[in-house]
Amino acid sequence: IERVFSGIQPTGNLHLGNYLGAIVNFVKMQETHNCLYCVVDLHAITVPPAVWGGPDELRRNIREVTAAFIASGIDPKKQIIFNQSQVAEHAELAWVLNCIARLGWLNRMTQFKEKAGKDRENVSVGLYDYPVLMASDILVYRATHVPVGEDQKQHVELTRDIAQKFNNDFSASIAAQGFGEAYFPLPEPVITGPATRVMSLRDGTKKMSKSDPSDYSRINLTDDADAIAQKIRKAKTDPEPLPSEEKGLEPRPEADNLVGIYAALAGKPKSEVLAEFGGAQFSGFKSNLVDLAVSKLAPLAAEMKRLSGDTAYVDSVLADGADRARVIAAETMTAVKDIMGMVRKK
Ligand code: TYM
Repeated sequence: IERVFSGIQPTGNLHLGNYLGAIVNFVKMQETHNCLYCVVDLHAITVPPAVWGGPDELRRNIREVTAAFIASGIDPKKQIIFNQSQVAEHAELAWVLNCIARLGWLNRMTQFKEKAGKDRENVSVGLYDYPVLMASDILVYRATHVPVGEDQKQHVELTRDIAQKFNNDFSASIAAQGFGEAYFPLPEPVITGPATRVMSLRDGTKKMSKSDPSDYSRINLTDDADAIAQKIRKAKTDPEPLPSEEKGLEPRPEADNLVGIYAALAGKPKSEVLAEFGGAQFSGFKSNLVDLAVSKLAPLAAEMKRLSGDTAYVDSVLADGADRARVIAAETMTAVKDIMGMVRKK
């Protein structure tokens, strides 16, 4: 059986990169897999409270990400939607994995280096440990597939290394406990579609991100039709018309990005978009992109807004999801304790 796990941080400004790089694939995978989609609130608090916004903002953002999952078409009855802090096993397994992962492995994590910047002495220990908690999220469900954007590839690879080391270190006990050759499956990153790395609308060499100070750099999932249109019209481009083949996009990051966004929203490969728009000026292409983006995203924003207002419903989805997630996670923790020799009540 194949199981999917993925998570999104409730840190505000859910944007088109999160949607096209991750959520669109979450929705697709529910047709073929059992899926757990998690609002990772324990990850959100790895930056200072002034950055994640404090308690009121966190509550609001947890509900907003949940609303985005449901509004995008994830079925909370068939799949599991929940927030991380309601399932204590995430933090519990993270401790065990902390004792498996090597300092040298974490020192190679590029996202930590970017986020920590120059003031290393002053970032939280949690920020450093972020990738181990992420490994725990995935492994506590023994998930086999992890749909993510390109920027999370290294973290999923670390998860595989941690899983493999656990399997090797305890191979005899794993077999003795009746789990065969390996306990944790090595999870595969699923990084697919034409928008695995959506770039800033102001600078095609920078990733679209929640934390960019310019709101014009990203399309937020809560933006209305006017805001979407304005941001696309103002998006940086170059003076050439669109090429008709993909290799013509290579030295043109802004053009590549807008074509990728169009392709992902239309559900087509970039080559088809270029076959249609090759030779066109950006002004004409952008009008088409505005129409497409508004038709796909404005209804999503409206539904998110409606659901975010219904906190009783959203909270009940999270509580129900957590109850179902906990059953799986508790089974893993029991097995891990038995494998490692921790005595427990039977
Ligand atoms: P977060 O909240 O930063 O991002 C959520 C998802 O959005 C993807 N993403 C993008 N995809 C394409 N273009 C972009 N510009 C872009 N920006 C973000 C991310 O790759 C991610 O898939 N560490 C994870 C959260 C997490 C997680 C997990 C994911 C915690 N535990 C376990 C998978 C499995 C993160 O970066 O979230």
